[in-house]
Amino acid sequence: MEEHLKILVVDDEECILDIFKRYFESSKNHTILTAGNGFEALEIIKTEQVNCCFTDLAMPKLDGLELARKINQYDNTIPVVVMTGYPSMDIAIETLKNGVVDFITKPFKMEQILPTISRVMASRTHFVNNILLKEEYEKTKKLVKVNEELQGKIKDVETINLILQNLDQAASSQDLFKILVNLTGKITPCDEAHFYLFTNEMNDYEIITSFFRNEKRTTDDAVLIEKETAQKVAGDGIPYLIKGSNGIGNIIAIPLKIKSKVFGILASVIHHENKSFGEKEIYFLNFLIEKASSSIENLALYENIYENLFSTLYAFVETIEARDPYTKLHSANVSRYAIAIARETGCSHEEIVKLNVSGNLHDIGKIGIPDSILLKPGQLTVDEYEIIKKHPVIGSNIIGHLGMWTDEQAIIRHHHERFDGRGYPDRLKGKNIPFLARILSVADVFDALTTDRSYRQKMPDNVAVEVVRENSGSQFDPKIVDIFLDLHSKGLLKNKFNL
Ligand SMILES: [Fe+2]
Repeated sequence: MEEHLKILVVDDEECILDIFKRYFESSKNHTILTAGNGFEALEIIKTEQVNCCFTDLAMPKLDGLELARKINQYDNTIPVVVMTGYPSMDIAIETLKNGVVDFITKPFKMEQILPTISRVMASRTHFVNNILLKEEYEKTKKLVKVNEELQGKIKDVETINLILQNLDQAASSQDLFKILVNLTGKITPCDEAHFYLFTNEMNDYEIITSFFRNEKRTTDDAVLIEKETAQKVAGDGIPYLIKGSNGIGNIIAIPLKIKSKVFGILASVIHHENKSFGEKEIYFLNFLIEKASSSIENLALYENIYENLFSTLYAFVETIEARDPYTKLHSANVSRYAIAIARETGCSHEEIVKLNVSGNLHDIGKIGIPDSILLKPGQLTVDEYEIIKKHPVIGSNIIGHLGMWTDEQAIIRHHHERFDGRGYPDRLKGKNIPFLARILSVADVFDALTTDRSYRQKMPDNVAVEVVRENSGSQFDPKIVDIFLDLHSKGLLKNKFNL
């Protein structure tokens, strides 16, 4: 069915308007609105939903061409048909620019009007579709651009996260230097990256750790920064982009500082002399160094506190051991045995460090046991033994107050648990006993058996080994005993510290 349209006819000649009205009255398919001049027409356009406009060209005040332009400005999807006795190409070009405009040459027959309406309405559909397509295209183009920007931003955030997460994993300064060069390899296209540490009051420097994109290369092949350059970077405390010696590659050298004092340089090298570092890469490198510097500062502080604290606590252990000449260096030996066993079980570096702390401090709780009991030469009474049995809890409480050795605290608490659940203080059984505590337990007993005590002489190694073997599965974890026996048979558990 033909679409019902509102058609506006504009002419200063009343008779033309009448002809239109009469012609469309009979068809009733379309509604005819009329205006005697351009201004009146514009008012109607603004208040009625006009679908199409026929206008005379020559009109006083506002001519048809100007009206067409104004209608276009208001809504360029309303087709305007100019009725003119003088059609010209100039007019056509002028008016076709902004919307749908057509012409009908006077004089015309009313039979020509409906085909003209169909034609301009079809043109309008085409015109609107084009606008929509164009808008769609622009939108898509904009969307692609925004998406590209977003992807770039996401990548930046990912790089920042990568840096922060990696730096966060550093447990020691040495770890951090390794992470630093590896991250440099990830965030820049460098072929190699080195961390130089200044020694000897900044007079010397040496490579502490390196990254090579080509894994076959070693520090021997490294493109080094010259001493003068290194000292300049350190002296000025700012990054330098430099040519490698003999024109080999491009190097960016960034100083690392603790409390504004340079202590090292991160040097990132691109071998190809025509390739260099991008602005963003330099930005990320600076970000990396800034974060690494503060991490190193914290780690150095922590390592310092950690070492101080450990030394202080170990001094307590030495005091306890000094009270009993028979137990001198017991803790140091237990740690050695335990670490040897732990290495064989495939423990991580982190676990070895935990074992070192807990091994050396495992009997620190004996500080709370009276000398009369601790140093008693003869057999202990049941009550005295109960007091001795408190030392793992006392020890773990001492460590617990520090809040920094949670795992070590548990190892110390449970170093007298038995695999069959008959130990103390919590009667933990089997795998409920922390793994490192199970290792410590074997090491502890073996060292005790092979050391003279106030109440008995030391056992020969082979006898002590048999005692450990006999208690496999009851007192000790059988898997750990197997490893212990294997290490002992290879002669790897013999060298005891002695005074
Ligand atoms: Fe103990």
